[in-house]
Parts: sequence; structure tokens; C-alpha cells
Amino acid sequence: MKIKIPQTIKLSTNNPFISGEYEPPPDKSISHRSIIFSSLSQGKSKIFNLLISKDTLATVGVMRDLGIKILRKKSTFIVKGEGLKGFKEPENILNAYNSGTTIRLIAGILSAQKFISIITGDSSLRKRPMKRIIDPLSLMGAKIYSRKNGLAPLVFLPSKLKPINYKLPIPSAQVKSAIILASLFTDGESIIEEPIPSRNHTELMLRHFGVNIKKIDNFIHIHPPTKLHPIEIHIPGDISSASFFITLAALLPNSKLIVKNLGLNPTRIGLLACLKQMGANINFEINEYRLGEPVGTLTITSSNLKSINVKSDLIPSMIDEIPLLAILATQAYGITVIENLSELKYKESNRLLNTYLILKNLGAKIQLIDDSLIIEGKKSLVGNVIIDSLKDHRLAMMAFIAGVLCEKPVIIKNFNSTQISYPSFLQDALKFCL
Ligand code: S3P
Repeated sequence: MKIKIPQTIKLSTNNPFISGEYEPPPDKSISHRSIIFSSLSQGKSKIFNLLISKDTLATVGVMRDLGIKILRKKSTFIVKGEGLKGFKEPENILNAYNSGTTIRLIAGILSAQKFISIITGDSSLRKRPMKRIIDPLSLMGAKIYSRKNGLAPLVFLPSKLKPINYKLPIPSAQVKSAIILASLFTDGESIIEEPIPSRNHTELMLRHFGVNIKKIDNFIHIHPPTKLHPIEIHIPGDISSASFFITLAALLPNSKLIVKNLGLNPTRIGLLACLKQMGANINFEINEYRLGEPVGTLTITSSNLKSINVKSDLIPSMIDEIPLLAILATQAYGITVIENLSELKYKESNRLLNTYLILKNLGAKIQLIDDSLIIEGKKSLVGNVIIDSLKDHRLAMMAFIAGVLCEKPVIIKNFNSTQISYPSFLQDALKFCL
């Protein structure tokens, strides 16, 4: 069944519950990387179960504009990589649209080319900080121009890069990956110090493409290869997308959800650790490893939750799930404190402020103090309001999940931003809980 996602939807639910088996959409982070790394390799890579969404199609578009042939048959993609030196000068300005992963990772590659390129994005992406990649890439010898304060569009002049020894000032997989990609074009070892780990798909996947990259303590060592070889990739389900329905299953009485083909990379499962600590009935088993990453099945049944204090080191492993943790906290016994959330300000919208505003609007007892959320639990969410997702895909879906828990109807504006990461969200929601 195909559902046209409306611009605005009205939610009105009657004692809903979630039940059944569910296969989440393919992982977005791994999908972007599959296209980018295959484009860098020498020969044909085959990618099964690629996420087809606005963000990942932005990456496909940029790679095609750089001269890479990418064929698509449903969700299987064949990428004809032309090697590290095979990109062509783009005829026009490259467009990453809404996708931070696209612009930041590909910036690492554009920095090292013999041609000029310009990359831009939509109005949200053009507000997001790029200095975080411009600084380390410039240290490597890249010649990058931006608007004031390091905002896109970004212009790359032809450059020859040198290796780098760099300590990441923020735990960001996008920044880390931009530097790793740039380091492939140098002629010596680069070392990146990562005090707090962020998602490590780049490191694990590049190893399978033949790159000598390893992590020793907090240090990532990269030795540039002469070439990357093509591989076959089967992309697992996205834990960040699955988390919307995992959250609902934890909270709606009489619910039981079985999530299959789920990526369970330890650098992505902070929300599952929090749920366990809150007393959720949650279990997962690993069925196999794909490109060094665990993939398995998760079962969750509803239960009474209690509040927790969230350890700051866990934040990067659930950076995209913080709005959901906040919803869970509104329904848990006690007061939950989530600190060190400043990175959330720099997402597709100011997600820290907007998570607070949405939940406050729905009737939650929540405070935002500096970069911390303080949430008093066991307070019913009321609803009877209009919520604007501000075109932030994760907030549109988070508002939907909170809306299902509300006593009164909720209207969500700009709901179609779900197309960014989870085009079948409403279809799945209708299947489970309405
Ligand atoms: C991503 C990294 C995270 C995350 C984003 C995807 C990635 O961003 O929020 O949705 O694929 O590398 P940061 O690296 O900016 O924290």
C-alpha cells in the first residue's frame, strides 16, 4: 500500500498499541558511506538494500555529478568506481540538499581534487556549521572558501593534501569521516585522536574496501592505500529509524514489537542502554556480522519505566535519538536529567530547543537549562495543539510518536520531511499503531 504523505496530518488515536514483526528501513549512515566508498574504489560494487530517501539520493546525485556511473534496480545499486583519481570536474554547483553527512564527507574528497568545485545545500544545511571540517581540512593543505562564519556554499580550489595528526574537539562522525576520507589522498600516516567515540561505520567499512585503518586506544591510524577494491554490501536496518517504534512499544500498554535485520553497532545503541537502565523489557540477539558490524533481532514489550541520569559519554551513541529519550522520560517515574546536549543545536534545526518546545507544548513537565534537559516523568501528554516540525525529519517523527501518546488530537505541520530519512514512516505507523 502506498500512502501519499500529506504536508500536514491530524493525529487522533484511541488506546493504540503496537504489535508484530517489523523490518526498519536501511541504515542511512551506512547507505551514504556505501555510495561514497564504492565511488572511490576501482571497479563495480554492488549495494543491496540501500536506503532510498532524499538524503541518500543527494549523495547519489553528487557522486553522479562527479562523473561516477551509478545504476539502480529497485533498492539494489551498482556503483562503477573510478578509483581515487577518477572524479571529473563537475559542470555545475553540487547540491547536498538537507544532508549534513553528504556535504561533510564529500568535502573530504573535494579538498583533494585537481579541479575547482562548489557544494551547497538547502536553507537548513546552509545554516549548519562547516568550520568544524574546514579547520582540519585546511590544516591538511585544502584551500576552502565559505560564506562568513564557515557557512556553505563551500568552494574547493585544487590542492595537494598532507597527512594530519588531529584531536577531534567534538565527538562527530561526520567530521571524523571527512578527515579520514581526505587522508586517503595523502602520502603518509594520519592519526586522529577521538576522546569520546562516535559512530565508527567509516572505519569498519573502509577496512573491507582494503584500507589499512585501525583504532588503538583513542587513536585512529590511517595509512593511505594505493587503491580501494570494490565489494558487495548488504545494508542492515537503521537503529535510529527503528527507535521511533521501539519507543512506542516501550510505552504503549500491551505492546510487543520484534525488530528484524537491525544494525546493532555498539556506537549506535545508546538508547537501548538507556531503555535497559530505565527498566524496559528489551532484549536483542546478534545473528550475524556484516562488514564488521553486528546485525540481529530485538524484542521489546511495554513496561513501567523509571527515570535515569544519562552518562554524557553515551550521548554520541544516541545523538539522533535524544528527542525519543526525552519522550520516554516524560512517562518514566522520577526526574530524568540529560546533560551535554549542545551538539543537538546544530542538527537539521536547533533540535535541543525544538525538542523542549514540542514536549512543553504537548503538556510535558520539561525544562531546558543551558545544554541540559530536565524532565519530570509520569505526566500525561495532553495534545490539542499544532506542532510544526520546522522541516526537521526527526522532529516530525518524534512529534508523531509523542502525539500517539497524547490524550487529545495533535496536528503536525511539515510532516513530509519524513522523506529525508524514513519515507515509509507513516505506512509503518499505520500498520502498527493506528
Ligand atoms: C551521522 C553522524 C551524526 C548524526 C547524523 C549522521 C553520520 O552527526 O547526527 O544523523 O552518518 O556520520 P554528527 O557527526 O554531526 O554528530
